[in-house]
Amino acid sequence: MAMFSRFKKPEDGRPRATTAPVAEPLKAPVAKPSVTRAAVIAPRVKQAAQHKPVAQAAVQDKEKKRKERLGEIKVELHKRLLENLNLSALETAPEASLRAEIAAIAGEALEQMSIVLNKEDRSTLNQELYDEVMGLGPLEPLLKDDTINDILVNGPQQIFIERDGKLELSNITFKDERHLLRIIDKIVSAVGRRVDESNPYVDARLSDGSRFNAMVPPIAVDGSLVSIRKFKKEKLGVDDLVRFGAFTEEMAAYLQAAVACRLNVIVSGGTGSGKTTTLNALSSFIDNSERILTIEDTAELQLQQTHVGRMESRPANVEGKGAVSQRDCLRNALRMRPDRIIVGETRGEEVIDMLQAMNTGHDGSMTTIHANSARDGISRLENMIAMAGIEMPLKAVRSQIASAVNLIVQASRLQDGSRRMVSITEITGMEGDVISMQEVFRFERLGLEPNGKILGRFNATGVRSYYAERFRQWGYDLPAEIYEPIA
Ligand SMILES: Nc1ncnc2c1ncn2[C@@H]1O[C@H](COP(=O)(O)OP(=O)(O)OP(=O)(O)O)[C@@H](O)[C@H]1O
Ligand SMILES: [Mg+2]
Repeated sequence: MAMFSRFKKPEDGRPRATTAPVAEPLKAPVAKPSVTRAAVIAPRVKQAAQHKPVAQAAVQDKEKKRKERLGEIKVELHKRLLENLNLSALETAPEASLRAEIAAIAGEALEQMSIVLNKEDRSTLNQELYDEVMGLGPLEPLLKDDTINDILVNGPQQIFIERDGKLELSNITFKDERHLLRIIDKIVSAVGRRVDESNPYVDARLSDGSRFNAMVPPIAVDGSLVSIRKFKKEKLGVDDLVRFGAFTEEMAAYLQAAVACRLNVIVSGGTGSGKTTTLNALSSFIDNSERILTIEDTAELQLQQTHVGRMESRPANVEGKGAVSQRDCLRNALRMRPDRIIVGETRGEEVIDMLQAMNTGHDGSMTTIHANSARDGISRLENMIAMAGIEMPLKAVRSQIASAVNLIVQASRLQDGSRRMVSITEITGMEGDVISMQEVFRFERLGLEPNGKILGRFNATGVRSYYAERFRQWGYDLPAEIYEPIA
């Protein structure tokens, strides 16, 4: 044990928590756990050990009991680890020595509790302990699994995961609500936030970049609700998306022309439909010489260009101070001489500044909105403007939108889990009080395969792009055939 002693709390031999009845959390270091405590714990764990399933019990039952027992041991060992480890030294410790240290402390504690485990249980236990101490407990294996996109926790006993566009219930659980709350607390306190009864929900970003949202009781009725959108190091590029059938090469060529020719683009779509992914892929068409500023509530975009300034808004702190909204960032961004502005998602009053930016020299800007169709997207914009308290006749609002936005790209997650660009729609101006638009490409559903897969194809609608002449002038002369529909 002495070999990794630098991760152990210094043992100064002083008696622990002398007069104060409540231990002061900030007062470190604390001496080793008292003997009495271990003595109290040991019989309880031993008792649990005696409850071992008898031979005739069903295998399943046995397995369940085994898991429960391991769970109990884990909780106990975890407590001991927290008492024994010098947590501040952990930050900089190399992983291998930490693992060894944890295994050593756990081994010693198991011995004290007279518990013998087989090799496999022991290595599972060590891994789980490591995850508890250093990571996010039961969430850790899910976070590490690259095939998982989303993690959705509905109380301690139910964790759903999304793989290949499909939601499934995982076999992973938290011990109880307290365990879940402890992990939530760990996440949010790492980013200087707090979540409790008075601040029952919080948005945060995990250290790996994943987006995190939690809501705790009493607002969450059956236990804390957590949603995590995993951060992908390798963002899906245009080629990947074409390969996955999110859109076609023709559509990609069109989009490239649109972005390179500085059309203002809005990616519209529902939750998790692939808006951010699409926006990120579209950004790859921006020339490397341009200065791009990105504004997001949670920094998710990963632009490939060299000249990129990234901004992340910030909610108010516990005292209600220090909030920096997307709108604040956007207004400031306009003074930072950007060539293009990308707003991760327009959802509120920043809509006004976004439209103004698009109208006044920052063309080629892009954003996403939460809407189910291009038309719906326009109504969303109108609503956001109204909600921001701008008193303008509807016609004026619409003509603002019509002159600011050139293109709406609709992303969608279909029932079979596939994500597709179901429509590309151009805004062509105003006809009376109505914004006129034309769809250039769309996804046509043709049927359903027996296995539930949606059959369909992308097709041109037959209209030539309103911007075709601009594309040509800018050197993106798209062949006329791409606008021709397949019969
Ligand atoms: N065409 C695609 N094929 C496969 N996976 C995709 C595709 N598009 C997006 N994804 C994956 O789906 C998940 C959701 O995508 P994304 O974050 O872009 O959605 P979103 O619409 O921005 O979601 P939200 O509304 O939560 O912001 C991500 O994990 C992403 O990698
Ligand atoms: Mg998004």
